[in-house]
Amino acid sequence: MEKFVIEGGTKLKGEVTISGAKNAAVAIIPATILAKGRCVIENIPNISDVTILLRILREMGCTVNLIDRTTVEIDTTYIHEPVVPYEMARHMRASYYFLGSLLGRCNEASVSMPGGCHFGVRPIDQHIKGFEALGASVSIDYGMINAKWDTPIGAHIYFDVVSVGATINVMLSAVKAKGLTVLENVAKEPHIVDLANFLNSMGADIRGAGTDVIKIRGVDMLRGTTYSIIPDQIEAGTYMVATAATGGDVLIKNVIPKHLESITDKLEKAGAEITEYDDAIRVVRRQPLIKTNVKTLPHPGFPTDMQPQITVMLCLAKGTSIITEGVWDNRFKYVDELRRMGANIQVDGRVAVVEGVDQLTGAPVKATDLRAGAALLIGGLMADGMTEIEDIYHIERGYENVVEKLQSLGANIQKVVVPDEVVAKAL
Ligand code: EPU
Repeated sequence: MEKFVIEGGTKLKGEVTISGAKNAAVAIIPATILAKGRCVIENIPNISDVTILLRILREMGCTVNLIDRTTVEIDTTYIHEPVVPYEMARHMRASYYFLGSLLGRCNEASVSMPGGCHFGVRPIDQHIKGFEALGASVSIDYGMINAKWDTPIGAHIYFDVVSVGATINVMLSAVKAKGLTVLENVAKEPHIVDLANFLNSMGADIRGAGTDVIKIRGVDMLRGTTYSIIPDQIEAGTYMVATAATGGDVLIKNVIPKHLESITDKLEKAGAEITEYDDAIRVVRRQPLIKTNVKTLPHPGFPTDMQPQITVMLCLAKGTSIITEGVWDNRFKYVDELRRMGANIQVDGRVAVVEGVDQLTGAPVKATDLRAGAALLIGGLMADGMTEIEDIYHIERGYENVVEKLQSLGANIQKVVVPDEVVAKAL
C-alpha cells in the first residue's frame, strides 16, 4: 500500500508549474480516433487517467509513442474493433468518450459502463438522448453500452441538464453527421472549448464552444494534427488554495488567469492577495482567513472540482462559511475525514456549514475520490502534526508529480510504500 505522509505547518513558498488539463486530455485522447491518422498531442499530463486511455488506444490497435515527457504521438489509422471492454473502462469515467468518437469513426461502438469518482448517481441519459437524436440506436446489455447508426444526420438537441460529459460525447459523435447539428444548453468549461479547438484543427467545423449553443456542420473526414492541451484549471486552483490555506506566497506558472476568475474571487474574499500575469498567477496570504460562502455551479461559476479544497481551507476561517454544492448530489463524503482532523462541519444534503476552528490536527485519513484527496492534502499541510493519507491512487489519477511539486514549495511530504505483509498484520 502507498500513502502520503505530511508533517503540517509549513507555509508554501516559491514557484510551481501547472501541467496540461486532465479533463481536456481525457476528451482529446479518445477524439484522436476520428482522424484515422497521426496526431501529436503536447502538454499532456503524466497522470494515471491518461495512461489508461492510451492503453485503451493500444488495445484497439492504435500506435502510441511517447516523444518526450509531455508529448505523445498517436496513430489511429488501424482499429481492430470498436469495443472498450469492462476491464479497461471500469477505472475511469472518461472511457465513455470512446462511445462518441467510435460512433463518429466506425458508425458503431460498444463501451462498458464507466467507473470514476462516486458522488451520487451519475446518469448518462443526456449522452444517449444526443446519440439517438442523431440517428443512433442505443442499448445497454450486460454492462455494455452499444450504439450504432447507418448514416448520422445533424439534429437540434436541447440538453435537459448542463453536462460536461454529454456535451463532449455528442460533439464527438456529431462532427461527421450530415448537415447542421445544434447543441443547446451545453457546458462551457474550458475543456469543452479546448476539445472544439482540437477537432477544428483536425478539419471539423464547430462554432460557439464556450457559449450556451454549439453549432457543428458535418464534414466527410478529419485529418491528423498537432495540438497543445490547455493548462489544468483545477490543478492551478488547488495550488492557489493550498497557498492561501497555508498563508504562503507562490507564483503559479503555465495558467490561463481567465479560467481561474471564480477561484480568484473567492480567495480574495477569504483574505488572499492575487496578482495576475499573462500566463501566471501569484497568491499571497498575510492576514487571517475570512469566512466566505461558496456555491458551486457549471462554468463560469465556481467549479465543483474545487469545492473540497476550498472547504478545508475555510475550516480555519473565523466564523461560519456556507458551502453549497450546485452540481453533484453527494460530494461531501470527505467531510468525515476532515472531522477526524478536528474540522467542525455539518452537512445537510447539498449544503455544508463550516464553523472555523483554531487548528486542525494531523490524523490518518483516506482519500474517497480525487478532489477529496486534494482536500486532505491541503488539510495535512495546514494541520498541526502528522497526517497520513491512504488510497492515494485517487489523487494520482489527476495530479502530476504532486509530491515533488509540493516539496519544491517547501512542504514536508513523502510518498511511503507500506509492505503488504505489514498492512495485513495491522488488519
Ligand atoms: N447529468 C445527468 N445526465 C447526464 C449527464 C449528467 O443528469 O446524462 C447530471 C449529473 O448527475 C450531474 C450534472 O449533470 O448532476 C453534471 O454532470 P456532468 O455530466 O457535467 O459531469 P461529468 O461529465 O460526469 C465532468 C468532470 C468532473 C466534474 C463534472 C462537473 C470529466 C472527466 N469529469 O464530469 O470532474 O466534476 O464534469 O464539472 O471531465 C474531477 O475532475 O474530479 C471530476 C469529477
